[in-house]
Order: sequence, then structure tokens, then C-alpha cells
Amino acid sequence: MHGILLILPSNKESMSEDIFKKIISHAKEYGYIFQSSEIYDGLSAVYDYGQYGSELKNNIRNYWWKSMVQHHENIVGIDAAIFMHPTTWKASGHVDAFNDPMIDNKDSKKRYRADVLIEDYAEKQRQKAEKEITKAKKRFGDDFDEKLYRETNPRVKGYLDKADEAIDKMVKSLEADDLAAVKQLIEDLEIACPISGSRNWTDVRQFNLMFDTKMGSLSEGADKIFLRPETAQGIFVNFLNVMKTGRMKVPFGIAQTGKAFRNEIVARQFIFRMREFEQMEMQFFVKPGTEMEWFEFWKEQRMEWHKKMGFPESKYRWHDHDKLAHYANAATDIEFEFPFGFKELEGIHSRTDFDLGAHQKYSGKKLQYFDPELNENYVPYVVETSIGLDRTFLAVFSHSLQDEKLDDGSERTVLRLPKFLAPIKAAILPLVKKDGMPEMARRIFDDLKNDFMLQYDEKDAIGRRYRRQDAIGTPFCITVDNESLSDNAVTIRERDSMKQERIAIDKLAAYLFEQLKY
Ligand code: GAP
Repeated sequence: MHGILLILPSNKESMSEDIFKKIISHAKEYGYIFQSSEIYDGLSAVYDYGQYGSELKNNIRNYWWKSMVQHHENIVGIDAAIFMHPTTWKASGHVDAFNDPMIDNKDSKKRYRADVLIEDYAEKQRQKAEKEITKAKKRFGDDFDEKLYRETNPRVKGYLDKADEAIDKMVKSLEADDLAAVKQLIEDLEIACPISGSRNWTDVRQFNLMFDTKMGSLSEGADKIFLRPETAQGIFVNFLNVMKTGRMKVPFGIAQTGKAFRNEIVARQFIFRMREFEQMEMQFFVKPGTEMEWFEFWKEQRMEWHKKMGFPESKYRWHDHDKLAHYANAATDIEFEFPFGFKELEGIHSRTDFDLGAHQKYSGKKLQYFDPELNENYVPYVVETSIGLDRTFLAVFSHSLQDEKLDDGSERTVLRLPKFLAPIKAAILPLVKKDGMPEMARRIFDDLKNDFMLQYDEKDAIGRRYRRQDAIGTPFCITVDNESLSDNAVTIRERDSMKQERIAIDKLAAYLFEQLKY
């Protein structure tokens, strides 16, 4: 690889607000992401994808869809409506339980999720412990026994115990719906507002995250409907339809991608937490009692999917849930190291028969599978994989954006997107705008455009055009020069190494197919 990296988002020390700001401004400057309705000063936590952003988003979605639907004979895909009968959300538990505990600081007037304040406190304690461990590692060298040190060093143990105790108390209070105890815990831990620095808190209250709207055709008083807060319920209510029409046999899965809406209390961090976002979810229906095997199976499959994008393994970690959702008997997250730290990217949940059971009860329809081997009916158990498309976009984009200092002293900004996900796969560039080069470049463009998303560019000096494509993340630049007209070959420049090679025009398609494989 050429050059020295100036920005290393994967490096903990350099995780700063500056890097995050750079990511946001690059996304805007290069047509990836715009603030929604920006000419009216924007709408909080709502974003639009621009010309390159929508391509990258489509490519991530297709990568997911292929891995789920095309690669598994027993998984089919659907596209359910956003609006659903209001009873859906009663049955799913969202009307009663899709709440976040919120708390306001009276001085800064800022609103926080009470559980996040406590989790952040615990994370800080863990970080202090890690710092101590790193220092000791350096001090003791090869003789260092990390496990023993963790268990016996009083300072490290103190930090880790504080973290565990805080989480333990929070989980118990939330499970008992004891919001006064949650507030007491925030006070006992002496958590201060990051803005005002004060501990002048309101009481903790529950806040339902569903957006509602009205639908004219329902009878008087029953016109309130919700914008779906997850796509999963569209799958559950279609379980029978798909099973019958697709002649599906347990175990089988139903996959779906689509918009979801949540009135998030704290909606910051760009597209990490949005009020309108897109999910990619798959519900896998299994025989009761086999759900833990399938849970492990899907954990492995999903981690493989992430790793295939080629980012370092150290960017991912597992986080088992401290507090299980009302429907789950096991749950874990795949966390990714974003520029602001490790955060949830995907959830894998063993949802038992909660959803199908509840819809069966509320609808009065039998949502069961007849198992020919057992000769009996049962409500299948469900293992779910659920990932945010926008959050995956942020993971991919933030890790890929790098500033480099080159050997000749110049600098470049390069978006090292996984090649198969890049919005533009190749740019076709006539070296100059004369001598038949543009015509030849156009012919190449026309020959390849059915198979690859391309861009034709003849403006500015070739060096500037290369830089422009680097910043967009285009993996290949194909340059038509003087010799091309006689040797029927072009120069192909690879984005990351900046290496150039000569290649016959009739070999271009095969070359690109090979390079873009994953
Ligand atoms: N059906 C299960 C479910 O919805 P979740 O953990 O609430 O589970 C799944 O959401 C995934 O959806 C998350 O891991 C995250 O990637 C994404 N997600 C959730 N809320 C989001 C938001 N406000 N903005 C962007 N992505 C979000």
C-alpha cells in the first residue's frame, strides 16, 4: 500500500469528534447523505441519501438479500406494508411495552435515556479498568497473567465491580418497572449531565416510541394507526400465507427489508440513530426446543456476513443482552467500533413463540405448523436476525474513509469501500478531449454499462479526476490514451494501491467481474 495514513478511524486514540465531523461533511460533499429538507433547516434525525449514497445503500441491501434469500433454499423474501392493523401492535407488546425510560436535566433542558446514562457510567468504569490492565501489561511484560490480574488487583476489580453492580441494579429496577429506583441509582452514581455538569434531574418517565397517524376508513374512534417500529411484525402476520403458498417446511425463514419508524428520545450521531430508518430482518421458524442450536447457527452466519466485507475482525465484538426484551429467551448483539466507540449494529434474538402465539390469541386464527414427523401441530419458535441498513452504511462508510499522505508528499482522501459495494465500479476517462479518445471511451462505457455501474468523466486533468474517484470510492479508473487507439488496450488504475496496468479492452469485463467478486 502507498503512503502513510493520517486518519485511522480504527485507532482508538484518534476517535475524536473531528473524525466524525469529517465523515459527515464528506458524506454531504460527495453526494452520499444530506440532512432531510435542508433548505428548511432540516428535520431532526431524518436524512436523505444522495446519488452515491442511494447506490451504496442498494448494494448493501442486495448483499444482505442475496446472502439470505438467494443463498438459502428455505428462506423466502417478502415486502409487507408499513401500515398494519392497529391490533398488530397490541399483540406484539409495542403499545404497552415499547418504551424507553427518559430523564431530563433541569438546567440544560436536555433529555436522556436513563438506561443509557447508566450504561455509559458502567462503560467508563470498564475503560478505567482496561487502562490499568494495559499499564500493568507494559510493566510486567511476558510474565503478565491478565486473568489473575483482573481477578485480584483491587483497583481493577473495584472498577469492574462498580460497572457490574450498576448494570445489575438498573436491570432489576427496569424489570420491576421501578422508575423511582432508576432515578435513585442515577443520583447514587453521581451521574452528571454532560452539557450542564449538574445533577439536577427530573423523575424518570416512560416514553412510547411509536409514531401514530390517522386512517380515514376505520370506524369512528378506531382511526389511530401506527407507523411500524420494526419490520418483523409484517413477517409474523404473513406466516400462514407464506407457509401455505410457498409450501414451506419447518425450519424455514422469511426475510424482509424496509422502513421502520421510532420517535427516538435521543436522536444524535448522524445516521446511527434515526427517526425514520431501514431494517433488514429475517425470522427463522424452528421446532420448539431446537431454538438454541439455530441461535448459534445464525450467530455464526451473521458474523461471517460481516467479515466478508473485509474489515478487521477487531472491529466487531459480541454483546449479550443484560436485560432480555419481553419476547426473548436469548439475545446478543454484534457491535461495531464506530468512530464514537463500540455500538450495536445487529441483533440476534431467540423470540420463542411469543409473537405467533400473541397474534394467534388476538386474531383468533391458528398460526401453527403441522409437523409430519411428529404428527402434531405446534406454534414454531423463532430466531430473528435484525440489522439496521443505515447503521451498516455508517459502519462501512466511516471505516472506509481515510486520509493519506503519499510518498511524493501530496495528500489524498480515499474512500476504501469494499469493492463489490462501491456505488461506481469504474470510471471511464479519456486522457484528453480529442484525437478520438472520447469516442473510444464512450464505446467502452456502452459495452460495459449493462453489467457495471460506471461513470464517464472527461473534465479536468487526469490527476484531479483520479482524486475525485478516490473520494467517491470508485475502485477502478480506466483511462483511454493515445496508444489505446492503436493497441486496443487501456490503463486500469486500482484505487487502494494506485497501481496501474495495461489491459486489452476485450478483457475488461472479465477483469472487472473477477475483481468485484466477494
Ligand atoms: N425486530 C427486532 C428489532 O427491531 P432492535 O434491536 O430494536 O430489534 C434492530 O433493532 C436493528 O435496527 C438495530 O440493531 C439497529 O441496527 C437498527 N436500528 C434500531 N433503531 C434504529 C434507529 N433509531 N436508527 C437506525 N437504526 C436503528
